[in-house]
Amino acid sequence: MRTFRIHTFGCQMNEHDSEKIAYLLMEKGLVPAEDGIPDLFIVNSCAVRDKAVQKLYTLLGRTKKWAAKGTVVGVVGCVAQVEREKLLRHFPHLSFVIGPGSYPSLDELLDRILEGEKVVAARWEGKWWETGGALRQRPAVAYINIMEGCDKFCTYCIVPFTRGRERYRPLPWIIDEVRRAVDQGYMEIQLLGQNVDSWRWEKYRFWHLLDRVRKIPGLKWVRFITSHPKDFVPEMVSIMAEGEPITPYVHLPLQAGSNRILNLMRRGYSKEEFLEKVEMIREKVKLSSIGTDIIVGFPYEEEEDFRQTLEVVKRVEFDNMYSFHYSPRPLSYAGRNFPDNVPKEVKRRRLMELQKLQAEIQLENNRRFVGKVIEVLATGRSAKDPEAYMGRDITYRVVNFSCKRNPIGEVLQIEIKEAGPHSLKGEVKNED
Ligand code: SAH
Ligand code: SF4
Ligand code: F3S
Repeated sequence: MRTFRIHTFGCQMNEHDSEKIAYLLMEKGLVPAEDGIPDLFIVNSCAVRDKAVQKLYTLLGRTKKWAAKGTVVGVVGCVAQVEREKLLRHFPHLSFVIGPGSYPSLDELLDRILEGEKVVAARWEGKWWETGGALRQRPAVAYINIMEGCDKFCTYCIVPFTRGRERYRPLPWIIDEVRRAVDQGYMEIQLLGQNVDSWRWEKYRFWHLLDRVRKIPGLKWVRFITSHPKDFVPEMVSIMAEGEPITPYVHLPLQAGSNRILNLMRRGYSKEEFLEKVEMIREKVKLSSIGTDIIVGFPYEEEEDFRQTLEVVKRVEFDNMYSFHYSPRPLSYAGRNFPDNVPKEVKRRRLMELQKLQAEIQLENNRRFVGKVIEVLATGRSAKDPEAYMGRDITYRVVNFSCKRNPIGEVLQIEIKEAGPHSLKGEVKNED
């Protein structure tokens, strides 16, 4: 029996693509191999920042030995889409390089690869990539694609080049997959797209889709990522206000708090408009929870611009934040036209200052949970303590807790005992 393993970099989209690829391989009779040297090794790559690409290169370097011993090694994902020639030049041992553009043909391409052919493919086929299933890697949470690609072209971002123009999955297919996931026992589903708010099908828009999904019996929680502040409309707030199974969490990337920088980033909203949307959410959605992404050190970012970002962060008090220093990307407008002119040291200092402020805000907010009993969906073992488990509550907070049995996949009542900036800690209520 032939074995395979997929190593995945990047976002949930990539994670889910790997699950779909694994499904196709299983259908062809291959079996997943957790360790050892597999017969087929696929790296699903991420191009969003230089660091991710460097990690890919390091990993590929290590696969040379495997290829010499007969393992078929290939790259898929975002780097494969935009750096085909470069990858093949640096790593001649690669048997295939396939970008998301060619995923609709992946089933056939994998047959050719398994017959020993060298395959390089990244042509945009424009169709929706449907696989009939996914070999889900996460217990409890099922990822479900609703749209692909991005038409926004923010100036720092490579994603529109790696993922192509927006394509939307038809509503009946989405509903079907959600039903199947619920039947299989998944308590939570996450609807995935680079810009979920752009989703449309016939006369339906994203909030109509959410309305259909929330009525599917047996579903505990529905989340969706990522929202775009420009497209996040009052209809979205209204549907979120309906409550469970729709969770009150929204990931709304701010990127920068200065209008000058937001313009240079071509984000399509001002700081004031962003704040209005936040207010609308806070006002209407019970237990609302807002996460964000921020980039520091974008070209021409002055100290004053950065102060404005800190101001917005203080004002909003985000529930979680991913923050990065700017990494110039090939193909992107800023990568081609703007100098990377904020010194590394300044970027580092700004990032640290931002993260310190955010940690204080989160700690303060998380403390309000101490003493409360909250519902938590157990999703895995705790990252810090292998004896303990972790899960998330309705607001998407990480909760670590101890439990006598394996509770993964269950919703539990957890009494919160301690709060840190990045997680809560508690105990199962009324455990025998
Ligand atoms: N579609 C989502 C997420 C895209 S990528 C959105 O529109 O927000 C995830 C995050 O990576 C972005 O939100 C951004 O904060 C960060 N990112 C993207 N390009 C980057 C770059 N060139 N340098 C640093 N961070 C970047
Ligand atoms: Fe990138 Fe902007 Fe599209 Fe998000 S909306 S994927 S940041 S171009
Ligand atoms: Fe990375 Fe591609 Fe996702 S660049 S963040 S894997 S869309």
